[in-house]
Amino acid sequence: MEVSRVIAAVLGLQFGDEGKGKITDFLSGMFQVAVRFNGGGNAGHTVVANGKTYKFHLIPSGSLRCETVVLGNGMVIDPHGLAEEMDKLTTSGCSSHIIISKMAHVVTPMHKILDTKEESVRSKLSIGTTAQGIGPTYEDKYARTGIRMVDLLSRDTLMEKVETIYRMKESLLASTEFSRKENREAMVDELYRVGQRLTPFLEYTELEIFRQYRKGKSILFEGAQGTMLDIDFGMYPFVTSSNALAGALSLGAGFPFRKVDYVIGVAKAYMSKVGSGPFPTELEETQAARLRDLGHEFGTTTGRPRRVGWLDIPMLRYSIMMNDVDALAVTRLDTLGQMDKIRICTAYRKDGKEIDYIPRSFQEFSGVEMDYMDMEPWGKLAQPEGGYTFSALPAALRKYVEKVEELLDIPVDIISLGEGRENTIVRDTSVLNSQAPDTREHDPIP
Ligand code: IMP
Repeated sequence: MEVSRVIAAVLGLQFGDEGKGKITDFLSGMFQVAVRFNGGGNAGHTVVANGKTYKFHLIPSGSLRCETVVLGNGMVIDPHGLAEEMDKLTTSGCSSHIIISKMAHVVTPMHKILDTKEESVRSKLSIGTTAQGIGPTYEDKYARTGIRMVDLLSRDTLMEKVETIYRMKESLLASTEFSRKENREAMVDELYRVGQRLTPFLEYTELEIFRQYRKGKSILFEGAQGTMLDIDFGMYPFVTSSNALAGALSLGAGFPFRKVDYVIGVAKAYMSKVGSGPFPTELEETQAARLRDLGHEFGTTTGRPRRVGWLDIPMLRYSIMMNDVDALAVTRLDTLGQMDKIRICTAYRKDGKEIDYIPRSFQEFSGVEMDYMDMEPWGKLAQPEGGYTFSALPAALRKYVEKVEELLDIPVDIISLGEGRENTIVRDTSVLNSQAPDTREHDPIP
């Protein structure tokens, strides 16, 4: 079958954990190249394919089916974690060609310790980070003291950089194992060792992405985290340390955003969040506990219970605008339907007047009220033989989806009703260039 090239991006529109992994894996059948461009091991993407569960933190979720897999320069990478994930992928029978940007930054064990130390200094303003060393690694990147993947090739460069970082952050590191030079040296030895292993995969990945583009290959960019965790446009300071918006792919992978044909925004049918910060539609604990249990809402990376809330339309409207989203994929509708009561937040109000912005500080949030619309629950879904179709879904569920489309003025083209690829309904493939996602002839996963 003739496949015309599609360049698409999949982004999370809420606080992360929207189900991007599932949607990306589902779509990846029609792409040859999967690219990640931001974040690092703080992300946790779960993919259930052919009855097996895969958990990715660094490797793009499209890796199970794409031929070429790219870890872009905008990422921060724990080389030990990456080597482990690469091994798991190989063991699972996947033969994708992985390339890693030489310019991506390296997360060391020292950065992970710094993450925890910085959190303790923040005190009341602590973010609730994933403790994966993300913030400190991006700090070093912008301080121009960072260690890049290409530095793993020289033990001397590694040592020089580790010592510089140590001098800069000595006040935080003095009480840790890294205050001893021999421990820093041992860490460098380990980094150098794993660097040797990763050498064959290091490249100027932006060039390879362009090569693939020129060959007419379809490319899928996968955002990590979500719009409300974006360092600029999220709920600062309760955000991650990178940009999580669609535009970030230009800088985090070196590919012009003008060439992206479609942006698919992923939204959970309700909201969830790990870590601190404002969460306008958060549920009170009794209801939250029920939704959390129904949806197994515990962090993929940290195992922490997630805070949960009703779907927030004003926030989604903002995210859709900021990411220039063409179509939505809505996940977890199977979970939400089992609540006794379902609500959608339709507007934010201050002093009785609707506001058209999302406040970004606790101070600005004070006095803000939410308008809610009640929706009818649709209960537990029975799994029909032969798979789900939209028209056969309970009327209340269809109404919920149509209401979301109406409120946001954007099509919900993909609906997810469970973990596996088979529990997915594609309502309209026009956004995906009329190609059904299962057109790929061979699937490298046995
Ligand atoms: P960091 O990215 O580990 O520094 O964490 C900063 C904030 O972003 C914390 O509230 C984390 O819980 C949150 N966060 C980071 N990555 C993810 C993710 O992939 N899903 C959900 N929350 C995340």
